[in-house]
Amino acid sequence: MTKTIPATLIAGDGIGPEIMQSVTTVMDALGAPFLWDHQSAGVGAFDQHGTALPEATLDSIRRTGLVLKGPLTTPVGKGFRSINVTLRQAFDLYANVRPTQTIVPGGRYENVDLVVIRENIEGLYAAMEYYMAVDGDPEAVAYGAGFNTRTECNRIVRFAFEYAVKNNRKKVTLVHKANILKILSGLFLHEGRKVAAEYEGRVALEERIVDACAMELVIRPENYDVIVTTNLFGDILSDLTAGLVGGLGMAPGANIGEKMGIFEAVHGSAPDIAGQGIANPLALMMAGSMMLAHVGRQDLSQRLDGAMKQILQVEGLRTRDLGGKATTQDVTQALLRAIQ
Ligand code: NAI
Ligand code: MG
Repeated sequence: MTKTIPATLIAGDGIGPEIMQSVTTVMDALGAPFLWDHQSAGVGAFDQHGTALPEATLDSIRRTGLVLKGPLTTPVGKGFRSINVTLRQAFDLYANVRPTQTIVPGGRYENVDLVVIRENIEGLYAAMEYYMAVDGDPEAVAYGAGFNTRTECNRIVRFAFEYAVKNNRKKVTLVHKANILKILSGLFLHEGRKVAAEYEGRVALEERIVDACAMELVIRPENYDVIVTTNLFGDILSDLTAGLVGGLGMAPGANIGEKMGIFEAVHGSAPDIAGQGIANPLALMMAGSMMLAHVGRQDLSQRLDGAMKQILQVEGLRTRDLGGKATTQDVTQALLRAIQ
């Protein structure tokens, strides 16, 4: 086993260290080529170094361009800004890729296999917000603005079509609200149609208004293949799609830029169950699998996916969030056996 690819590893807060331990144990046993550079971020780093995102961590990320990251706690309403949002913007990680597949048998949906690709930097996440005073009430009106650029709309839709080509997918659905937000969402739709025309005959184009899409995803999720959309819609729809297949414990995500990738679980630090050894490590494990595919090790990625599918057939190996009683350690041990 040769470890030749340097990668930054951030265990994170709350359940982060528990699930990261599980993931690195399994990935190392699998023969993953990553040479882990352990760095810190989040509340743990803040308490230790006085900053939630130490310079050494940023240096490591710049050097490796490849990160496996546990969840980071963001203090609500005070303290430091979300590290996740900071990293996305600092490293131009413009595409958020969230695959959703049915792998737990006996759930509500049998044949879900879709990917939500969310624009990760612009839209309403620009958070240009302020209050306007009326009649002495300083907070009488809450005002918010967002922006989408032509360049970014083009780049994210192109990313989605290229993803479809590379992953042998047949259809890309552009999700928008251009009927109401004729300019903000309209630019995304028009730019998206232009890009789609270049892929005619190879990848089909479909268009959906976001509210109708939400309903259809609940009724007929198997009709969807690749979904591409702007930041806020993608945030909401990708949590919805995670819910179709067993919840946050089963949802991985990748933040991708031109030269960099940060791989993580969609869920947060789960402070309510931290330290109890009962967290589901599979979302982060799937993120690890995406990272393997990203560096061209589809062989290892597929073996890991296969092992996860195999153990989930056994009810006794499902964690509490999936209705079972298994511990994080039970899942780790079962995966170690399954990858042999
Ligand atoms: P959360 O995702 O941490 O937890 C929501 C619920 O899901 C909780 O009941 C939790 O126990 C459960 N859950 C989450 N992951 C699980 C897992 N792997 N196994 C079993 N159960 C799991 O969301 P919450 O409570 O809103 O946020 C907690 C903290 O995490 C906040 O500080 C938030 O800002 C942060 N957060 C960080 C993210 C990241 O680093 N990417 C993403 C989302 C939230
Ligand atoms: Mg979200």
